[in-house]
Amino acid sequence: MTLNITCIPGDGIGPEIVAQAKKVLDKVCEKNGHTIKYTDVLMGGASIDKYCVPLTDETIETAKAADAVLMGSIGGNTSTSPWYKLPPEKRPEAGLLKIRKALGLFANLRPAYLYEELADACPLKKEISAAGFDMLIMRELTGGLYFGERKTVEENGELKAIDTLTYSESEIRRIAIKGFDIARKRRKKVTSVDKANVLDSSRLWRKVVNEVAADYPDVEVEHMLVDNCAMQLVKDPAQFDVILTENMFGDILSDEASMVTGSIGMLSSASLNDTKFGLYEPSHGSAPDIAGQDIANPIATILSAAMMLRYTFDLDKEADEIEAAVKQVLKDGYRTGDIYSEGTTKVGCTKMGDLICERI
Ligand code: IPM
Ligand code: MG
Repeated sequence: MTLNITCIPGDGIGPEIVAQAKKVLDKVCEKNGHTIKYTDVLMGGASIDKYCVPLTDETIETAKAADAVLMGSIGGNTSTSPWYKLPPEKRPEAGLLKIRKALGLFANLRPAYLYEELADACPLKKEISAAGFDMLIMRELTGGLYFGERKTVEENGELKAIDTLTYSESEIRRIAIKGFDIARKRRKKVTSVDKANVLDSSRLWRKVVNEVAADYPDVEVEHMLVDNCAMQLVKDPAQFDVILTENMFGDILSDEASMVTGSIGMLSSASLNDTKFGLYEPSHGSAPDIAGQDIANPIATILSAAMMLRYTFDLDKEADEIEAAVKQVLKDGYRTGDIYSEGTTKVGCTKMGDLICERI
């Protein structure tokens, strides 16, 4: 098979971690007789520096022409980087939001899983982490507050900022279907998270999720308010299988879920539309403070590449091989700084990539 992949290394640690993911992909594809064609493009700060905009139309076209996009991370230090002196629609993050919308990537899958080997890195009490956990956050990615109308106006002598949270039934239905479909392949439980005690958009969310649930009698559904969910994630994470939620709640809860796994450096993600196409990126950001030092954890990006093989290319065996190599490297005691604990061997980003390749 030939895999046509557009790569967006991005900013900060992005280029370093994407280089490792490519190396791992090359290894697994060479082993299994596949060919990869990469096309590198710029987005975020790197694109601002070259083209004065965070995302060009050419980049969107290149991405659309590929089977999948592999991304590192974008953005810089919001207090010190000159990118953040630009108007909001010209900043790095605007490029990310625009590409998600342009490619119709409404379903964002963020698995959060506690590796046995990293149980010590889990910040929760031992009796809680001992139960382990394995959840998937299904975050709606192209609606809600992120894409509603926003403006800042002057009214009665002061500034007033307005953001709008909108969801239509069809937007909710298509993400709910994705959530239930994936739950069916897992432990068959969906926790739909909303703020239905306050928000109309959440009341509609709950109504539509219940309608979709009726088509999945084999999947258990429960509704949870987002504030309670934030609490339950640290109190009893083992209760969750699939968390189905809207854009902003998903953004916040997925960072929380990743932290309870020990490090955000381990968490992969896939953003999908209704075809096999997907954009794969780690859940974490560009960590500008450690960029260029070869100390970043490349595992989230490597696991995102595995998700790409699984979801876009149906190469389950190859994806399994990458995931098994990651597990093995942890078992063998290698750690990047973010997951390091006494008695293990600290390695840098490139070395971690090499060690994973050796285990494929
Ligand atoms: C994420 C990030 C983005 C988001 C930012 C960079 C716009 O936090 O992918 O979770 O909020 O979606
Ligand atoms: Mg986020």
